[in-house]
Amino acid sequence: MIKTKDGSFTLKSQKYNECYHSSEGAVVESLYKHIYPAFEVAKKNSYFGGEIRILDICYGLGYNTLLSILNRPKNVRLKIFSPELDENLIRSLKDFPYPKEFEKLKHIINSISTYFFYKDEFVEVEVKIMDARKYIKNLKSVDIVYQDAFSPKVNPELWSLEYFEEIERILNKKGVITTYSVATPVRCALYELGFNLYTHPYENIRKGTIASKDELDFEKIDFEEKLKRVNCYYISNKDI
Ligand SMILES: C[S@@+](CC[C@H](N)C(=O)[O-])C[C@H]1O[C@@H](n2cnc3c(N)ncnc32)[C@H](O)[C@@H]1O
Repeated sequence: MIKTKDGSFTLKSQKYNECYHSSEGAVVESLYKHIYPAFEVAKKNSYFGGEIRILDICYGLGYNTLLSILNRPKNVRLKIFSPELDENLIRSLKDFPYPKEFEKLKHIINSISTYFFYKDEFVEVEVKIMDARKYIKNLKSVDIVYQDAFSPKVNPELWSLEYFEEIERILNKKGVITTYSVATPVRCALYELGFNLYTHPYENIRKGTIASKDELDFEKIDFEEKLKRVNCYYISNKDI
């Protein structure tokens, strides 16, 4: 258990030898690198007609899912799909020391931790104990992807070109991918698939990457210019 800079707790995984969140803060990272930019895009697209479909890769401690629910725009339904390999982790989350503002989500946290599912009038969450690569094969039409696996170094199967091809297949034309990663192979894979690349505008936290086929109002990364200086290389399934 690690206390991050914003006071929220995260864990360090023994299997991957990495923390679930950066030291900047589990809440701050989730809000500024994922939820705020993704919901900006959703707002621009009139909240995709009143229902936002989110793929949360992967559930982990659930910060991205839970903070999306806390920040849900009024009258908008959220449908959240989230694969996760670690069943014991999900079962343990009913006792996780989440921040105080999560108290009003206690019934949701308990339901997900016990039944891997929650549903009410405005929110539906499905957590599937399954490899994310298999899970997304049966998924259709999502508006937002929180790409929040461990780093490409230790979790390469969720950063390969072939993986992002599957994500591209299920992402709506005006949809958006958010990630903390600024790694060149990750950006190359997304660029290779025709995504425009952007960075978030917030000053209080390190940059990540925002990817969309649509033109967005964020600062665009001139990747063509970058490719004059570096070779485009990405992770391929055959290298894993
Ligand atoms: C960095 S953590 C996710 C943090 C999470 N988004 C949050 O807000 O707390 C990465 C998670 O991905 C899971 N994971 C890694 N590889 C996976 C795979 N191939 N399929 C499904 N889950 C995977 C790990 O068990 C871990 O819980």
